[in-house]
Amino acid sequence: MICAMDLDDYLARHAGQDEVLARIDRETKAMPYAGMQTSPDQAALLALLVRLSGARTAIEIGTFTGYGAVCIARGLPADGRLTIFEVSDEYAGIARRNLDAAGELDKVTFVMGPATEHLADLDTVDFAYVDADKDAYPAYYDALVPKLAPRGLLLLDNMLRGGRVLDPQDESTRVTAALNDRIAADERVDSLLLGVRDGLTIVTPRAA
Ligand SMILES: C[S@@+](CC[C@H](N)C(=O)[O-])C[C@H]1O[C@@H](n2cnc3c(N)ncnc32)[C@H](O)[C@@H]1O
Repeated sequence: MICAMDLDDYLARHAGQDEVLARIDRETKAMPYAGMQTSPDQAALLALLVRLSGARTAIEIGTFTGYGAVCIARGLPADGRLTIFEVSDEYAGIARRNLDAAGELDKVTFVMGPATEHLADLDTVDFAYVDADKDAYPAYYDALVPKLAPRGLLLLDNMLRGGRVLDPQDESTRVTAALNDRIAADERVDSLLLGVRDGLTIVTPRAA
């Protein structure tokens, strides 16, 4: 009998985890709300997409213990910049220590407070990973699409909401389902809702 946890471990073992990421993963698993962490395979996908897209500037909305941030930072070139938006001082402190241990802290700027208050200040963004406050996703999407570089990528996590988008029974899930429909119909972008983990939507500006 194969169980989901065995598959998770198998995927993690094949996601290029080094000592630092394995430790972050282990320590995060012992914390409350451990399930918020980006899974190792999805984080490895982020690193790959950052590198393949040639991104030099990246943002992450919601960092928790920094697992995804370490992978995004590692995908950037040595002079790349990652801006992290986070509301929790405690989580930002943990992420900062983990990024430091990974040798990536020099690339990172933390912006504290609700991300919606800061997105208008951004310049062009090459890569954006949205992973916080599901109800604000429409606001994140509206703020970030016009900021994307011509070959930029916007990734939004949890777009399946555990499958509940099929038949939304609460306002928060209705927000996600409506955004899925809006993105699919948005003629400014090409997009794909990938059935990876809890649904990962990839958005890029449509070529003129
Ligand atoms: C799902 S976790 C992020 C996981 C992380 N991306 C990773 O790679 O493990 C969500 C994070 O978003 C933060 N958060 C919640 N609301 C926020 C907001 N309005 N603006 C910025 N961060 C927020 C939470 O404190 C938490 O650290």
